[in-house]
Amino acid sequence: MEIKVLKDYNELSSTVADIVETQIKEHLLSKLALPTGDTPLGMYDELVNKKLDWSHVITFNLDVYLMNINHPESYQSYMRKNLFDRTNIYPDHCHFPFRPFSGFEDKISGSMGIDLCILGIGSNGHIAFNEPGSSFLSRTRVVNLSEQTIKDNSRFFGTVDDVPTQAITMGLGTIMESKKIILIASGDHKLNILNVAMNGEVTEDVPASILQNHENVEVYYCD
Ligand code: F6R
Repeated sequence: MEIKVLKDYNELSSTVADIVETQIKEHLLSKLALPTGDTPLGMYDELVNKKLDWSHVITFNLDVYLMNINHPESYQSYMRKNLFDRTNIYPDHCHFPFRPFSGFEDKISGSMGIDLCILGIGSNGHIAFNEPGSSFLSRTRVVNLSEQTIKDNSRFFGTVDDVPTQAITMGLGTIMESKKIILIASGDHKLNILNVAMNGEVTEDVPASILQNHENVEVYYCD
C-alpha cells in the first residue's frame, strides 16, 4: 500500500483536516469515526480554525478507557477540549462506545454507517484499541490494554500505574465497514510498524494490516 509521506506535522494535520472539511461540506449529514491521542491534535486545531458547520454531523469515537469520564485524561474530556466544545456540534450527536455494545453498533448502522474513519496507529500496530491478536471479525467490546499500550500512554498519566488497564473499543470488523478510512502516523518511532502493517503479511498479530483488505484507505505519514 502507498504511504504518502508529508513534509512535516503541519502538513499532515492540514491535509487530513482538508479531507474532513471536504467530507462535511459535500455531505452535511456526515458520520465520522474519530481518534484521540497525540497524532490528531493538529488536525483538530485545523478543523476548529475552519469554522465549519458541524450542526448535522454525527461522530463516533473509536474507543474509550474504562475510567471516570470526567477525568481530564478520559477520551470524553479530550474530545470536548479539542473539538466538540470548539464547534457547533450537538452533544447528542457525539457518541462514545457504550454498553450494551449492540446498542452502539446499532447507532452506527442505524445512521447508515460511517462515511469517514480517521485512525491513528499504536506502536504495536493497534488501531482503535484492537491490540495484537484481535479478531479481524471483532465488534465493539471491552479489551485489556497491552503492556506496550499502557507504557506508551503513561505519558498522558504521569505513571504507568495510573493508566487504565481496560477500554471499550470499536472492533476491527466495525471499522472495516467504514466507507473511507484515513490512517495517520507521525514520528520515526511509527515508521517501522507502519511499513509492516501496510506492506507486510495481513495477520491478526498486526491489527492495522487488515486495512490492506479495504478498498478505500489512504495512509499519511510525517517524520
Ligand atoms: C485512540 C486510538 C489509538 C491511537 C494510537 C496512537 O483513540 O484509537 O489507536 O490512535 O494509540 O496514539 P498517538 O497518536 O497518541 O500516538
